[in-house]
Amino acid sequence: MRQILVTSALPYANGHIHIGHLVEYLQTDIWVRFQKMQGNRCIYICADDTHGTAIMLRARQEGRSEEDLINEMSDAHQADFAGFGIEFDNYGSTNSEESREVCGEIWQSLREADMIVEKQIEQLFDVEQGTFLADRFVRGTCPKCGSEDQPGDNCSNCNEVYSPVDLVDPISIATGSKPEVREATHLFVEIEKLHSFLDEWTQSGTLPKESANYLKNFFLNEPLKNWDISRPGPYFGFEIPDSPGNYWYVWFDAPIGYIGSTKQWCKAHDEKLDDWWKSDDCEIHHFIGKDIQYFHTLFWPAMLKTAEISLPTKVHIHGFLTVDGEKMSKSKGTFIQASKYLEHLNPSYLRYYYASKLNSRVEDIDLNLEEFESRVNSDLVGKVINLASRSAKFVAKTGLSDSYPDDGGLFEEFATAGEKIATHYEATDYSKAMRLIIELADKANPYVEENAPWELKKDEAKAQQLQDVCTVTLNLFRQLAIYLAPVLPDLAEKAGELFGEKLTSWDQAKTPVTGIQIAKFKHMMQRVDPKCVQAMIEESREENAEAAPATPQGNWDDSGDALEAEPLADEITFDDFSKVDLRVARVIEANEVPEARKLIQLKLSLGGGETRQVFAGIKAAYEPEDLLGKLVVMVANLAPRKMKFGVSEGMIIAAGPGGKDIFVLNPDEGAVPGQRVH
Ligand code: MSP
Ligand code: ZN
Repeated sequence: MRQILVTSALPYANGHIHIGHLVEYLQTDIWVRFQKMQGNRCIYICADDTHGTAIMLRARQEGRSEEDLINEMSDAHQADFAGFGIEFDNYGSTNSEESREVCGEIWQSLREADMIVEKQIEQLFDVEQGTFLADRFVRGTCPKCGSEDQPGDNCSNCNEVYSPVDLVDPISIATGSKPEVREATHLFVEIEKLHSFLDEWTQSGTLPKESANYLKNFFLNEPLKNWDISRPGPYFGFEIPDSPGNYWYVWFDAPIGYIGSTKQWCKAHDEKLDDWWKSDDCEIHHFIGKDIQYFHTLFWPAMLKTAEISLPTKVHIHGFLTVDGEKMSKSKGTFIQASKYLEHLNPSYLRYYYASKLNSRVEDIDLNLEEFESRVNSDLVGKVINLASRSAKFVAKTGLSDSYPDDGGLFEEFATAGEKIATHYEATDYSKAMRLIIELADKANPYVEENAPWELKKDEAKAQQLQDVCTVTLNLFRQLAIYLAPVLPDLAEKAGELFGEKLTSWDQAKTPVTGIQIAKFKHMMQRVDPKCVQAMIEESREENAEAAPATPQGNWDDSGDALEAEPLADEITFDDFSKVDLRVARVIEANEVPEARKLIQLKLSLGGGETRQVFAGIKAAYEPEDLLGKLVVMVANLAPRKMKFGVSEGMIIAAGPGGKDIFVLNPDEGAVPGQRVH
């Protein structure tokens, strides 16, 4: 029996759980349930990540204490998780006494190992609100690649990691003001001291290949930068015991929350913390998203190593969720909160759908709403549940046959397949596991159709045969329910009720049940109702539209500089204006023009197969792929102009002085190509 401690990343207490988060918590919950079914000793530990500037500012804004805010969020998070059947052994908080204690111990070790240095550093200070600004509260231009509107800690374009004071033209996103640079004392962890250890550890098979390969170059190139782990007050967090007025940075105490939460669990279960975090007999598995890799593959192992705590056995890293091929979008209604989903749809659908998509690679996964519907309906309802609903009723009175009938080897085949399915679960290759299970269902269904219990039922003389056929069908169904149990605990529970047992162990699939009574068949799962999917999307869209604030007053840049730079033109008549035929058009092709520095070649659709070629001087501001699919406004009756690269048949409307400052105008949602703009 293995002993396994499993964690998911600790969700931030400043937002609700959405279907993107659920990729991770469902992936983890499935793995934990699988381990428990294997008879392993496995605990699933999580907590809310509560500290930091964001929480502090939000609590201020709402006029209440941080504790009040984080307690409310913790309740909401736990309700969402419970709604999706995500079962933690302990759900704690980074703001707990246990976490504070463990922070203190690890801090002590870092001090003793001489890993901490103190430095005066310059940090951005928001004068309007009287606080230093957390990295994520500053945006500006990347000092390396010049990409605009990047966060304060690392560039989403070139991945460069930097300090917010390095940003060109920083802006505080809390107040929209330009922050000042001020000096303050900060404490740093010198992780370079563990360079060779980390280099080795990250290549030791603990991480997915992609991540390990990426880090390999990282270590080759330069020494590891010191990690800034303190923030001067005011800050919501733990004050550093030997550095009054300074607080541990949220990312210092966040992963320690894994241990703090375990400590809580140990207290409640009379266990020793060291048996879980300092024992070679215990495996530690972290599940995280690709956005927080650095923290878990560099800083966290450095802390653990120094404090002589076990290093993770595996860090499982997943990609991000897209919906219908795009980032979750508030305006499209695809930014769906967990609670909103639960108002409309059965959580089992999403559990199964994600399982059918997830693998062990660091790949984004797409929730395609049509496929969601069809997969659940055809696989689960049509192939699995169907087995029970077509046979259970015929043995309600007689129960199952006393000995297991000849089924041509199906039961044996299903039992043997259990091993392969288990291997895929173990490797977090759930999509492969689901495929194998559905392949088995595809063998069970022809058996039912050929033996047609509904026909046998009509002939009294065939009562034994009927009982035998239903005994086989229900046993095959039972095996599938066991294999699906990590993904669909609710189905396993209902299936278990049918047979008067609990389906909690993988090995139950090895032996058929016979000679028992069968409970009255109850509906196990409805088909997905497309109307519910629609309603969910619609409501998400409406609620986000209400919530999405316009730029708050005070942050508008309405200085008048633009007007001054280009004063208004001479008056024209309405007829003059009407001569310009402006139309909504869709960008259906966008290509670079290699010979032209400024141009992008666009193919615009006016609808009905009508297209125009336009060369637009917007290359400095847009990548061709950013434009694809977008609606724009074009001047449709401009005389064609012959250019070096081809004929330009109109122009698209954009604002701004030029260069990087070009803003293509997009009509609001609802407009369609071909519509005239008046
Ligand atoms: N608080 C940190 C984690 C601290 S762990 C010591 C954090 N919180 S989070 O709420 O932003 O994210 C929690 C987890 O959900 C992360 O692993 C993150 O990758 C994952 N996801 C958040 N949005 C996601 C998607 N849209 N898609 C897939 N996973 C996503 O990061
Ligand atoms: Zn950059």
